[in-house]
Amino acid sequence: MAKRKIVSLPGDGIGRVVLEQTIRVLKAAGFEAEYLEGDIGWEFWRTEGDPLPQRTIDLLQEHKIALFGAITSKPKEEAANELIPELQNKGLIYSSPIVALRQHFGLDICLRPCRTYEGNPLNFIRRGATGEIEEPKVDVAIFRQNTEGLYGGVEWSNPPEDVHKALMTHPKFKKNFGQTPKEEISISTRIFTKKATERILRAAFDYAKKFGYKSVTVAEKPNVIRETSGMMYRMAKEMQKNDYPEIELWNTNIDAQMMWLTKNPETYGVIVAGNMFGDIVSDGFAGLIGGLGFASSSQMNPETGIGVFEPTHGSAPKYADYETSIVNPIAMVESAIMMLDFIDEKEIANKIRKAVAQVIKEGKIRTYDMMKMSGRADVIEKGAASTIEMADAIIAKL
Ligand code: NAI
Ligand code: MG
Repeated sequence: MAKRKIVSLPGDGIGRVVLEQTIRVLKAAGFEAEYLEGDIGWEFWRTEGDPLPQRTIDLLQEHKIALFGAITSKPKEEAANELIPELQNKGLIYSSPIVALRQHFGLDICLRPCRTYEGNPLNFIRRGATGEIEEPKVDVAIFRQNTEGLYGGVEWSNPPEDVHKALMTHPKFKKNFGQTPKEEISISTRIFTKKATERILRAAFDYAKKFGYKSVTVAEKPNVIRETSGMMYRMAKEMQKNDYPEIELWNTNIDAQMMWLTKNPETYGVIVAGNMFGDIVSDGFAGLIGGLGFASSSQMNPETGIGVFEPTHGSAPKYADYETSIVNPIAMVESAIMMLDFIDEKEIANKIRKAVAQVIKEGKIRTYDMMKMSGRADVIEKGAASTIEMADAIIAKL
């Protein structure tokens, strides 16, 4: 059989080292693939004026599955100043290549699992009823709508006349904002479509069914944001009643959910939310299982079978040039495990999952974050494992 082809998108900073080490783990686990490197990130913005060149889009279109490290983004002016002289003053405006990838390929299903590893010193603990220390086991899968809502990019400061006029037809706008000069108003819209809402809900319910979770929680704010959150919850109720009667549907408000996070995180199974609330609630849960060194994600379009698998952390530029890399590769390795699940390589996925769990449980090899150190070059001298040593430890358990 022809070797499977995987697009590798290392990007910038620590994205490069965590991806390189993850590919070593995949090879050692017996996953046979050819990796085709795609250009993405700051270097391509600087030298070509495009952080996501068309050739990279074509590569992903052809091969469908990508592992992605991280990219560096900078504010508009700074980005323009770093362009090579030939590209200066041509009116090029920087925008994030990740958002561009999501929008181009309609990667509207974002999954961020948060599971406790036994023995991880970063696990959340709390006091029980009689003062004893409890370490609740978190096993939550968060489904975040990835392309719409408050991050959809439809926004204005000093909105155009016709937009303002349309808003004035809304009684609440007229009453509360009608006296404010147009120039003093900024608006960010929150648009939900039925199609995308249906897709993210269905993905969440299907996942709950497939992996035996007993509940799906909609974490929104339907009592206040009646039209968008309200639509999502109403559709979830319909869907649960018609297609998933065996799964419980829970409804929490996002603010209360963030409070309950530390009270009873073990109670939740699958959680589904719009773009921004999904972003917030997934970071909240990630904090309970070890933070950025452990937070993985996938972005998928189930119709086309295109999937991009990446840690949720960024390029951490301050560690990028360390002679010995100190960052934790587990979030990237976890993302690769999700990729293996997606392409039905369950056996290899489970093998790596088990190896990671063993390394964490043994506790002999720990990166600086797991030792609760501040990230500095001397953490290795102080006993922290390097990125490569962590990958070695995982490989040794395979
Ligand atoms: P970051 O995630 O890169 O780093 C924040 C801090 O988290 C680091 O300084 C480090 O202390 C810790 N950290 C991150 N990854 C770690 C790992 N694997 N192991 C141990 N510790 C880890 O976020 P920051 O500093 O806000 O952004 C840096 C750059 O990354 C920016 O240019 C930002 O735009 C970009 N970014 C890119 C993302 C992506 O590619 N998906 C996501 C978030 C930020
Ligand atoms: Mg986030």
